[in-house]
Amino acid sequence: MKIVHVTAECYPVAKVGGLGDVAGALPKYQNLAGEDAKLIMPMYKTPFLYNHEWENAYQGNASIGNHAFEFTVIKEKHNSLGFDLYLLDINGVLDREKVYGYSDDTYRFLSFQIAVVHWLSHWEDKPDVIHCHDYHTGMISFMMKHCYAYQNLSNIPSILTIHNAQYQGQFGWNQVDWIPAFDPTVGGLIEWKNDINPLATAIKNSWKVNTVSDGYLHELIYNSNGLEDLFEYEKGKCSGILNGIDDQLWNPNTDNYISHHYNVQNYKAGKEKNKEAICKQFGIDGSKPLFAFIGRLVGEKAADLLPDAILSSLYLLKGRISFIILGSGEKETENQLRSINSLFPSFYHADIGYNEALSHQLYASADFLLMPSRVEPCGLNQMYSMRYGTIPIVRRTGGLKDTVKDVGDGGWGICFNNATSEEIIYSIGRAMEISHNPKIMDKMIEAGMQIDHSWNKTVTQYLDLYRSCF
Ligand code: ADP
Ligand code: GLC
Repeated sequence: MKIVHVTAECYPVAKVGGLGDVAGALPKYQNLAGEDAKLIMPMYKTPFLYNHEWENAYQGNASIGNHAFEFTVIKEKHNSLGFDLYLLDINGVLDREKVYGYSDDTYRFLSFQIAVVHWLSHWEDKPDVIHCHDYHTGMISFMMKHCYAYQNLSNIPSILTIHNAQYQGQFGWNQVDWIPAFDPTVGGLIEWKNDINPLATAIKNSWKVNTVSDGYLHELIYNSNGLEDLFEYEKGKCSGILNGIDDQLWNPNTDNYISHHYNVQNYKAGKEKNKEAICKQFGIDGSKPLFAFIGRLVGEKAADLLPDAILSSLYLLKGRISFIILGSGEKETENQLRSINSLFPSFYHADIGYNEALSHQLYASADFLLMPSRVEPCGLNQMYSMRYGTIPIVRRTGGLKDTVKDVGDGGWGICFNNATSEEIIYSIGRAMEISHNPKIMDKMIEAGMQIDHSWNKTVTQYLDLYRSCF
């Protein structure tokens, strides 16, 4: 099957969060399964661009509103990611250092989508399926179906994977002329609650829609940042497919970012040495149970609850517990987490920023990983932590609920129900108790390490989803 993925992120080209990991892995494993998967994304100015060789793939002209623009598509020469990777450049619009966060993001991603659709409509050998990810690619399914200029794409199935329905990319009707050859009679297909809503557009116009876990799909019908009724209405074409992890990249036995490799047979020595190294690096006492948090410091991740929960735990369990935090996001949370550095220098360190290497080292050295998320469509951190022998402490929501079972129910993690600092503190207390019981702890670690979350298992579910369109 000829599959084209369209996405805003892809590891290692440009990653902000889990979307990048998924987009960097899914096409690779689809190709390993014998399919022909390609990926197209914006050309940002990231190190990957400068460290790889490229060839020209296409040059074209398109327009957004009354602004005509030129775009260029380049293809990575050596197929180093295991799939054909195309970067689309629109001079001055996409070629920036960050993926998101610019005041003209709506314009940037719309221009990108227009150029993608324009380019696809010129392919002689058309793909069998176009697979779009999140709202940044949300207008594509509509344009393929309803823009006259791209009529030759209207029979190609478009799939939407929702990685996060919190972000929908809404913009006002005063910008409707940004949509090529817009026909007002189909206005209802792009509108939600009086705005043009790219995520709602994709839900309405894609042939099939999936979320990245089953649990999250069920939650969206009750709580999806305003899209509840739409999910209820469209539920017939929606399904949940749990993400996989790239177990070649995320393998404690071969991971290039960690100094001491290990597997389920010899994890104790390996983890101990990694822990020693990281604690030494941050001046932390390495003999205490080490709790980590890795992630975006935003409300969805309940990162605002961490300063209070961590401080209370540090006071309550003085000298018996340690924390390392890696993340960036809301400034207030960043500052609060940073301010604890000087209060408990031997038991706490917050590293504010993005650091891929440190994230791997933390999964490989921590005893417990905190994920108190308010919303978690799938979550990859808990799957990485389990593979690296770190026990996840999670709130029962979305993909966390689907992947982590509490030790009290014979499982391999610690689960709680409500995103409050009290429940986080209580769960940290439970973890401390477990840490004094090596028999239970080993059983949990070994069970977690042996769970197969590889894409090999999941890839067929996407192929089945595509096939259901034919
Ligand atoms: P989300 O996509 O919502 O951020 P996921 O759990 O799906 O959450 O994926 C997060 C990914 O981003 C993981 O690969 C995690 O290790 C990584 N990550 C998050 N924050 C950081 C950070 N500050 N430094 C390095 N990696 C990070
Ligand atoms: C999103 C979600 C996260 C999920 C990731 C990859 O960013 O917040 O839960 O794991 O996408 O699908």
